Amino acid sequence: IEQKEQGLPLFFGWFLLPEEEERIKCATMDFLKTLDTLDAFKQHISEFTGEAEKEVDLEQYFQTTAPLHCTTKFCDYGKAEGAEEYAELQVVKDSFDKSDEISVTALIVTPRTFGARVALTETQMKLWPEGGDKTGAPEALLPSIEALPAGSRAHVTLGCSAGVEAVQTGIDLLEILALQKEGKEGTQVEMELGTLSYLGEGRWFLALREAITADTKFSSFSE
Ligand code: A2P
Repeated sequence: IEQKEQGLPLFFGWFLLPEEEERIKCATMDFLKTLDTLDAFKQHISEFTGEAEKEVDLEQYFQTTAPLHCTTKFCDYGKAEGAEEYAELQVVKDSFDKSDEISVTALIVTPRTFGARVALTETQMKLWPEGGDKTGAPEALLPSIEALPAGSRAHVTLGCSAGVEAVQTGIDLLEILALQKEGKEGTQVEMELGTLSYLGEGRWFLALREAITADTKFSSFSE
């Protein structure tokens, strides 16, 4: 078992090509710059700062994580459930090191995370693992996750606030999608990039007018 575990990566996913990484970082940083100047955002600033009158520079608030990617399977070097089975899948082997394009349809900002929602194609869904939407999610969120279409969690973590782990981005995204499914719309603001909605407790969702696509390579990552 020891031997086999060593062969498994930390995670599999679609990795943005370096030039695409720069482009997406710039575009999403521009959004953050605009967001923290909006009156609607300032009204709820205390959810980020803990104080009503304080300002926040969202570009500084989120620490960027490299390399930018959309995780498919978190393997934890074999310690995660189903890691080996996933690595053995023919579709995983066939797709490995191959180019693919991902489509970002929304951005989320919460006091914990900054992320990009990825809309998976039917072909890409074949690389989405069994139960992939649920891993690491809190018990209380599981029924809501089950009610969402598979692949709803697919995202790129763009940044996390101090002390927050990347796994939180997918959980924040699922929470927002569950609220929307319940019919919660929240305050809406029209922006150049799309429609921004506020879902309470510092949760912001920008539905992009036009999807942002990015060239990636399906691969794995180990530290
Ligand atoms: P994400 O896919 O949301 O970015 P870490 O930095 O914590 O070692 O994680 C490495 C990558 O694996 C990150 O991309 C992270 O989150 C993802 N990840 C970490 N833990 C889990 C988990 N329990 N379930 C799914 N993805 C995870």
